[in-house]
Amino acid sequence: MSSSDPAVTRRPRAGRLVMLAHVVAVGVLVASGGTLARDPFPGVGRTATPAEIKAWDIDVRPDFKGLPRGRGTVAKGQDVWEAKCASCHGIFGESNQVFPPIVGGTTKEDMQRGRVAGLTSGTESQRTTLMKLSSLASLWDYVNRAMPWNNPRTLSVEEVYAVTAYMLHLGDILPGDFTLSDENIRDVQAKLPNRNGKSDKHGLWLPSGKPDVKNVACMRNCDTPVAISSRIPDHARDAHGNLADQMRPWGAVRGQVTMARAATAVPPSEHAAVRTLAEKSACLACHAPNQRLVGPSFAEITAKYKSDSGAESYLAGKIKNGGQGVWGSAPMPAAAVSEADARQLAQWILKGLPQ
Ligand code: HEC
Ligand code: HEC
Repeated sequence: MSSSDPAVTRRPRAGRLVMLAHVVAVGVLVASGGTLARDPFPGVGRTATPAEIKAWDIDVRPDFKGLPRGRGTVAKGQDVWEAKCASCHGIFGESNQVFPPIVGGTTKEDMQRGRVAGLTSGTESQRTTLMKLSSLASLWDYVNRAMPWNNPRTLSVEEVYAVTAYMLHLGDILPGDFTLSDENIRDVQAKLPNRNGKSDKHGLWLPSGKPDVKNVACMRNCDTPVAISSRIPDHARDAHGNLADQMRPWGAVRGQVTMARAATAVPPSEHAAVRTLAEKSACLACHAPNQRLVGPSFAEITAKYKSDSGAESYLAGKIKNGGQGVWGSAPMPAAAVSEADARQLAQWILKGLPQ
């Protein structure tokens, strides 16, 4: 059966989630003081231990509740950044073409006001993280739980403090000799350029509130409906390969054919399963058919190995184990795929199918 069959992939996942919810739910009951009179879900899961609950309970709230004690210097943060973040987010947080920039677009006046003018002036071409950020706890928490993207939850507490300080230094918010810690993080919060940017005066915040859309449905003598459509500008049509090939192979929605070569492309049925595998394994985050992203384009790889008889095994090994130095200094992470899947992906690339 192909891995793109939704019935095959969904069922076990849902099962795992139910188990997990149960472990957490039972754990919360136990942690809240009482002993359980009876197991509410007999035969399903088991009681979570306090240590397990602690491992899940890592969130840092806007008032810094949950923030672990610790400290990290801007200087140490620079080392962490260059080793573990810059490959995707750029040496100065400017980011390469696939990732939105972290740093830029904030001014000294913004820091005084607590509101970033560039968000509304229309003068900035992109919204950076530091332009939007209103709560420093969110930055700390996000990096701690989600970054580096290819290796989350591997940073030490000191590294998270340090790299957070370094990003703020890149944004001219902290000086180069600063040490960020649980003791001074509130003072730094008070310097964030967009600290006053968050509004809780809308229905998304208060469950009892009204949604922030105030329109009333017109019921009679209404104006002719406005037709809204969108079009990919010509200069950007092939910026991300052929969108038609990148849509999932079932369902009503189809991507536009954005590349001329798509007309002669292999029919989707022949490589839909491998493409789904490539999508699931995050390959397409770093590789595009005809364009260099973090890694080389698939077309470049196909061309380089087209007359190399050992290429299939070699590339399958590289996909499984990762490596660097063949195309540049950016590393390719080891993929969590089986031997057979790695071989299929290698064949798919060598045959030039990912167009
Ligand atoms: C392999 C590429 C990669 C690496 C390495 C990486 N990131 Fe990211 N980062 C991403 C992607 C992709 C996103 C967007 C994720 C999303 O929106 O789900 C992101 C998002 C972020 C954001 C949030 C941006 C926003 O405005 O929402 C921050 C902050 C961040 N990364 C910091 C870091 C730090 C610090 C490191 C190093 C410790 C790091 N990243 C390493 C790929 C990477
Ligand atoms: C975080 C980014 C990233 C992800 C995710 C990623 N790659 Fe790569 N890939 C790279 C980089 C960078 C290189 C260049 C490595 C080098 O120079 O040796 C590369 C190289 C390759 C090569 C050529 C290897 C060589 O030695 O010439 C193949 C084939 C490849 N990737 C396939 C895949 C497949 C298949 C997946 C998904 C399972 C994948 N990549 C996921 C970044 C990535």
